[in-house]
Amino acid sequence: MARKLFIDTVGCQMNVLDSELVVGSLRRQGFEVVEEARHADVILFNTCSVRQHAEEKIYSALGTLRGHKQRHPEKIIGVIGCMAQKDQELVRKRAPHVDIICGLGQLARIPELIAEVERCRAPVYAVSLGRSEASRPEVEQSFESYDPMREPSMRPTRFQAFVRTQFGCDKFCTYCIVPSVRGPEQGRPPEHILAETQQLAEQGCKEVTLVGQTVNSYRFKHGDGRTTRLSDLLYLLHDVAGIERIKFVTNFPRDMTDDLLQAVRDLPKVCRYLHVPAQSGCNEVLARMKRLYTVEYYREMLARCRAIVPEVAISSDFIVGFCGESEESFQRTCELVAQAGFKNSFIFKYSTRPGTKANELFLDDVPEETKKRRNNDLLAIQNKVSFAEHRRWIGRSVEVLVEGPSKRFLEKSTLEAGGPIQMTGRTMTDHIVVFDGDERLAGQTLPIDIVDASSFTLFGLLKDGQAWSMPAAARELESSEPARQQRLGLPMV
Ligand code: 5AD
Ligand code: SF4
Repeated sequence: MARKLFIDTVGCQMNVLDSELVVGSLRRQGFEVVEEARHADVILFNTCSVRQHAEEKIYSALGTLRGHKQRHPEKIIGVIGCMAQKDQELVRKRAPHVDIICGLGQLARIPELIAEVERCRAPVYAVSLGRSEASRPEVEQSFESYDPMREPSMRPTRFQAFVRTQFGCDKFCTYCIVPSVRGPEQGRPPEHILAETQQLAEQGCKEVTLVGQTVNSYRFKHGDGRTTRLSDLLYLLHDVAGIERIKFVTNFPRDMTDDLLQAVRDLPKVCRYLHVPAQSGCNEVLARMKRLYTVEYYREMLARCRAIVPEVAISSDFIVGFCGESEESFQRTCELVAQAGFKNSFIFKYSTRPGTKANELFLDDVPEETKKRRNNDLLAIQNKVSFAEHRRWIGRSVEVLVEGPSKRFLEKSTLEAGGPIQMTGRTMTDHIVVFDGDERLAGQTLPIDIVDASSFTLFGLLKDGQAWSMPAAARELESSEPARQQRLGLPMV
């Protein structure tokens, strides 16, 4: 009988991708994925350390499994990813029933680590070197490059996939733990990225999202002295047959070069969407964050994006309540958000992270209550801006890559009723669109007329007279029960 694996993933797209790769390697060892930790032989938590809240959630989940592990000592519990890399000792102390602690650079070893626990019945640990523990090449090597095995069932949908462009980050923003846990920035060779994209296209993938902590800093130096930039990579991937859309996240404002913006403008498969976190609208705060730009620079960068790429949609991240953020500093951020026309912004309350420069140098002096209020205030401003930004699409027709039934529809689950199904998808500018349709539309790119909009969603109608055809074999496959469950994100049992 197949051994059963449960994996819980928190954090960014990078973690979603890491989990896909771990599941890929374990499936090849005969594991099948289950939806409930209690039914699994191996329980893995792929963790995030960016904010304390994410860590506490994992400790709490581990706590609830303590009794289960006592009753079933043969079950294997693993903590993998950022928290494992950063806090191996602490995880051991707070959750002594954990069998595997495996850092980011060692994920390829998971099958071997599981076998070792089974053999020795003792906990095993595998983490990469800390950034100050050895020379840069040695540290780089200890973050073993690991993207060999893709696993379609773990993707956002069967026709969308993430592809990593680089590991790590070298920016060292003072609040951020990522450079310590994900290690030095290392671009993957373009030919590896191309080969992986070709393989994904052969598996039916239509949209790839290139992921890197600062994806637009991507630079690969070849042995012969040539350099491949992100713009060059976009040209390279644009030729892959079957790939219809290419996105990339996340961008660093200082590295938003004209060659990249021109590539976004000139390549029809590249989405006109840029996620470029500003973090703050106040120069003093930006300096304390060591973001390496001023708000004036950021505003000019936005203007440049819009001048070069007409109709580009831009989104951002902000941290409120960073050390020393006065009411006046916060007002500067409110002004930026009110004026910048972001499609949306992700807003976070500052969470001090041991191991970062900010934790060492500055006092976390903004009270929690103030952080909460600023978060709500900024969100209210952004929502107003998003509302206006979304409503300008009303009356226009957009191309939507259909992802599947909307979450709300699935929650209400009127599937058996036989009426129209509320479907969801995204435009080339990353706007979410919902419309009444049919499950079989998932994976197709369709013209939709936008008739209404909220702050987060465009509401549309399938264009009149639009007919869709599907080859008979695909129709048969589509109607099979497992395929239906997978498409709907339902548990595969
Ligand atoms: N506290 C709060 N938010 C943070 N981010 C990164 N580090 C912290 C922190 N210590 C946010 C930034 C980043 C996003 C992924 O997480 O806004 O862009
Ligand atoms: Fe963290 Fe800054 Fe690197 Fe982004 S650019 S991962 S915020 S250090």
